[in-house]
Amino acid sequence: MSGTDSQVDRGSGSITMFTGKGGVGKTTCAAATALHHSSPGNRTLAISTDATPSLSHIFELTDDRKPARVRDELFINELGEREVKEMWDKKFGREVYGVFSSFISIKYPEFVEFMTSVLPGLSDEFMVDYIRELSLHGEYETIIWDTAPLGQTLALLETPALLAEHLRMAPRIYSRLKLGQTSREPILDILRRWENLSAENIDFLKDRVKFVMVTIPEALAVEQLDGTFRALSEYSLRVKQLIINNVVKNEDSEFMSTKASQQKEYLKTIYEKYSDLEIIELPMFPYELKGVDRLREIEKILFQ
Ligand SMILES: Nc1ncnc2c1ncn2[C@@H]1O[C@H](COP(=O)(O)OP(=O)(O)OP(=O)(O)O)[C@@H](O)[C@H]1O
Ligand SMILES: [Mg+2]
Repeated sequence: MSGTDSQVDRGSGSITMFTGKGGVGKTTCAAATALHHSSPGNRTLAISTDATPSLSHIFELTDDRKPARVRDELFINELGEREVKEMWDKKFGREVYGVFSSFISIKYPEFVEFMTSVLPGLSDEFMVDYIRELSLHGEYETIIWDTAPLGQTLALLETPALLAEHLRMAPRIYSRLKLGQTSREPILDILRRWENLSAENIDFLKDRVKFVMVTIPEALAVEQLDGTFRALSEYSLRVKQLIINNVVKNEDSEFMSTKASQQKEYLKTIYEKYSDLEIIELPMFPYELKGVDRLREIEKILFQ
């Protein structure tokens, strides 16, 4: 639908999404990348759709404003349920509630809970939409999107499609509501608008978002890669870069050399399978990667 419609404005600037299994280093890589891009004239936002406040932790920030300034041109925003609900409120919540409450006696918070239970992907949908709106706004030249561990990321990607499917059925049901013409029409209009929004969000993910996959050279992580790439390609989302994190480079103890030789097998597999991708290795560091100075070390390797 809007996939071929060049009239649709999907925003400007660059958006990079970091994805991967739990604990592989997505937030670390996202933070270092955001640091790299932020410069005078290049306002950069690192945004997290993970419930845990890991970006503020890695940047050692105590400011809980949203967005919070890390340094001159670098901002972080950790989206929570509250922001997403606000978004839903602003776009559809009150409107849909208005229609529903004309024939069902229900309080607004209860209604929102009901909607999120029948459409479990609703908050994910609005996360995608939130980021799309941000890019349309043009306030940031670069947006770095740090996602929750992989299971949730994929659910997030599937949501617009699931929602579109739900909305395909919905008019048939809603049009049978025993209402006067006047109240029936608005809800169908709202649903149509919602459906368009959902399709635009899928296009936005396809056209505007660059995906970076983060992994580690370990059995489970490597096994999961194939499935993830397949799922992403089902939505025509292409990963451009693969970061292999935690690679042992220093084999000065028996412990480390055993670990390194085990990793070699997995590294070989990754290079063979994903030779079409740009692959970057990040070494395993002996210290915690927190604060701007440490992140600069990561930045140097990612952008050498
Ligand atoms: N190359 C590395 N060397 C040493 N420690 C690392 C390295 N990369 C990440 N870490 C550490 O591993 C932990 C997990 O990293 P990070 O939070 O970036 O992962 P994540 O993929 O975002 O996790 P989650 O899935 O929970 O969001 C952090 O404590 C981080 O400092
Ligand atoms: Mg994280």
